[in-house]
Amino acid sequence: MNDKPPHIARRMADIEPFHVMDLLARARALEEQGKDIVHMEIGEPDFKTPDPVCEAGKRAIDAGLTQYTPAVGLPALREAISAFYKSEYDVSVSPDRIVITPGASGALLLTMGVLVNPDDEVLLADPGYPCNRHFARFMEGKAVGVPVCEETDYQLNATLLEKHWNESTVAALLASPSNPTGTLIPNENLQTMSRVALSHGGRLVVDEIYHGLTYEDGGRETEPGKINTALSLSDELFVINSFSKYFCMTGWRLGWLVAPEVYVREIDKLAQNIFLAAPTIAQHAALTAFEPETRAILDERREAYRERRDFLLPALRELGFDIPVVPQGAFYLYANCSRFTDDSYEFSKDVLEQAGVAITPGRDFGTNEPDKHVRFAYTTSLERLKEGVNRLGLFLNT
Ligand SMILES: Cc1ncc(COP(=O)(O)O)c(C=O)c1O
Repeated sequence: MNDKPPHIARRMADIEPFHVMDLLARARALEEQGKDIVHMEIGEPDFKTPDPVCEAGKRAIDAGLTQYTPAVGLPALREAISAFYKSEYDVSVSPDRIVITPGASGALLLTMGVLVNPDDEVLLADPGYPCNRHFARFMEGKAVGVPVCEETDYQLNATLLEKHWNESTVAALLASPSNPTGTLIPNENLQTMSRVALSHGGRLVVDEIYHGLTYEDGGRETEPGKINTALSLSDELFVINSFSKYFCMTGWRLGWLVAPEVYVREIDKLAQNIFLAAPTIAQHAALTAFEPETRAILDERREAYRERRDFLLPALRELGFDIPVVPQGAFYLYANCSRFTDDSYEFSKDVLEQAGVAITPGRDFGTNEPDKHVRFAYTTSLERLKEGVNRLGLFLNT
């Protein structure tokens, strides 16, 4: 027998698993033992895909639409997304610049693929979405987490970009609304950040996956659910979006990327090689995602999220969690728990074991004070959230 260790690429040492998965596994084990767990750790909608979309998916199967689409996506879906930008944001985006991808994940991979050389740097907000730093690492680039706090609504801004941009930096990757903080980037900041990036010969990449899930105007929006797309500011940035969150289609694995025109051919080549095309059935189903009947269902769900947030935010503050900025979007609250612990991972484990509530420890989101923070997701019913808060109250008082 060969007792040499298996050859594994060096980069794998830097790719971390989601720490919350350990907690989720433990939560499932406790459930199997009959214990009731309130799940506030899950980052996907608890709502099923709307019926009109499912029906369209079934029709596509029945019609035998099971072969590859072009690598950049089904032409009709690229058109439908272009029309969506016009009707939703009053922005003209040519379908030629829209590439359909396997989730926002596929879009992030393609974007990093066309932008990042070995040792190039990508600026990210810390805390931020955990996979982003791994996409940069996968390209042999370097993710540079810039610590952000409540003073900038946990977002990057032009001053921070200028401070951290150096000759190796090629891009800054932002998300508005953000995961884990639910905060937005004001338009004027996006505009100045785009100018900073371009002045250095780099690019801004804006992840808009939580668009459609915003809850009030905060002085910045036209109406709930609508904030401006970064595409209204410039044709020179990359915008990432997905059918996963607002459209409740996580398992269909479908997203999209809007790229500056000069990159589209490169992205097409890369998509052909990496995944050939996004799932065909999902693309046909998604054609109905923009129809009024589907939108009515989705907008009602947004109201449910708003109600949940409006309950959970004051309830957690009342318990002693510090949440300095009102999160205006997504379905997360990022809470400072240092009043109770100096180790949010152990705290999350205790909360699970003793209170039967599953939450996500800060260490999944970066290295900026992770031990002081936990993320609550309101992807469960109001009734269950109330139960979760009751249990947390009892746990914290004993
Ligand atoms: C900010 C952000 N971007 C991208 C993704 C990936 O989403 P998907 O690949 O399901 O579209 C997620 C998922 O949680 C996310 O929170």
